[in-house]
Amino acid sequence: MPGAPVSVRLPRALAAPAPGWTTSADVIVVGSGIAGLTCALRLRERVDRVLLVTKTVLDEGSTAWAQGGIAAALHPEDSPEEHLEDTLVAGVGLCEREAVEALVTEGPRRVRQLVALGAEFDRDAEGEIKLTREGGHHRDRIAHAGGDATGREISRALIAALDRVRDDPGIEVVEHALVVDLLDDGAGRVDGVTLHVIGEGQLDGVGAAYARAVVLATGGLGQIYTSTTNPPVATGDGMAAALRAGARMTDLEFIQFHPTVLFLGEGSTGQQPLISEAVRGEGAFLVDGSGHRIMEGRHELADLAPRDVVARAILETMRDQGTDHVFLDARHLGAAFLEERFPSIVASCRSLGFDPSTDLLPVAPAQHYASGGIATDLRGRSSLPGLYACGECSCTGVHGANRLASNSLLEGLVFASRIASDIPARIADGELPEPRPVTPMRAGGDGAGPGALLDNSQRLTVQRAMTAGSGPVRSAESTAATAQALADLAALPPSTAEPGPKTWETTNLLHLGQVLTELAHRRAETRGGHVRSDFPERDDARWLVRQSVVVAPDRSLTVTERSMP
Ligand code: SIN
Repeated sequence: MPGAPVSVRLPRALAAPAPGWTTSADVIVVGSGIAGLTCALRLRERVDRVLLVTKTVLDEGSTAWAQGGIAAALHPEDSPEEHLEDTLVAGVGLCEREAVEALVTEGPRRVRQLVALGAEFDRDAEGEIKLTREGGHHRDRIAHAGGDATGREISRALIAALDRVRDDPGIEVVEHALVVDLLDDGAGRVDGVTLHVIGEGQLDGVGAAYARAVVLATGGLGQIYTSTTNPPVATGDGMAAALRAGARMTDLEFIQFHPTVLFLGEGSTGQQPLISEAVRGEGAFLVDGSGHRIMEGRHELADLAPRDVVARAILETMRDQGTDHVFLDARHLGAAFLEERFPSIVASCRSLGFDPSTDLLPVAPAQHYASGGIATDLRGRSSLPGLYACGECSCTGVHGANRLASNSLLEGLVFASRIASDIPARIADGELPEPRPVTPMRAGGDGAGPGALLDNSQRLTVQRAMTAGSGPVRSAESTAATAQALADLAALPPSTAEPGPKTWETTNLLHLGQVLTELAHRRAETRGGHVRSDFPERDDARWLVRQSVVVAPDRSLTVTERSMP
């Protein structure tokens, strides 16, 4: 196995002003997607005081952008066992079976609770939740809302539930609060976070919030690549803070690239319009520039093969034909059906000059989801006492090397609920004591080396390096080049960057990019969402392993491997 391309050392914390204010709660929940909101709402019923903080406003995270839906075995002819099987197959041998069992068996009940809370899913003529199919599923099991606005509806319902209890002194919500780093009690137990709040009155600027437990539900890191379906807030802040604090991170190299993202030209960067897999679920198919169907003969599920298979087929077609996109053909579905079933996608395409009922849609893979993250057990506990994680920033092991379509909202729902059961029980047992405020950790002076912050003007350089070397097609050479490019950025003189939200975000992207690239370099085979062009085949004999990484006390990386049964 190849060794480290360059040696990575990360600081203990980001350079930041000393906290100018403090606050405390029993539990701090960071993030307001399906995972954060679910966790905060449930905890509020069981602990005295919850502090929910979110980076911008409550509905601006990835959840609200989820189109396809939420997968659960709700149909009488479906079963958790079949959902389990499809999830394991998509995860190509690297799922944690117990975590998947928890997901698929608890999932239907949690979705029904979401309905009871007020989420309105699309229904059929008999009033039953309409279920559809997406890549990798052998059953119709995707519940959706507003056609293709499932995440927005779930987000609306959860925020409405939060609004109903906003006056309750047991829960406080702080918006425009970026998590900078984790705090510990001096003995290795996480007991708070430093936050940068753009606010008024007492909570403004950098402050310290203390709690018995911290739950990170901060979403993904899509902005680490030049093009992604993730919103601009997805800069991996929670993952990076956990990484620097020494939490175990697992499967970070497994990035999922969604096959059908509207291609707006080579220079188009940042969040790109997603064309949901559900469009293929309703019969659309992929063609090349000559109109030949790409997926025929490649997989028994053809255009509904797991998304890594579809993304790979598109990338191969693009490579063989020297193009930068292929096409999605949905024209035969007709304007009336498309407008009713996919109102947001049709509107978004039309606003960009494409009409799905008359035009072939240019599409190419783009970053979509981080299958790995902060390693947790089945109760959502990370490797650091006092720290929990759920949703996309976490790695429960449910996704393995590649997430099954529409399992992410479900994972957020199920594991957030588990955390909301675990924390109150541990508080009652005296396992999560009152926080012990100590001076926050400072960057530098601890072997962290220079260059603790990277100026925001370097963000595109990070994104380009990641896309070129640690993107959907990788090799030993490309990952080594990316590692070197990121190391050069990390070595820039520290004086070039001033502390502030954009600088912290960009530095988070750098830190995560360095670690992800190290793991991508070591994984010398093709598995999950990416292709190793120098090792094109899966290699179960050597590589049925999951990689975890921690930042050691000397600030270098320690990588461990665990063989899967
Ligand atoms: C999609 O609608 O294609 C995305 C669904 C998902 O990422 O699970």
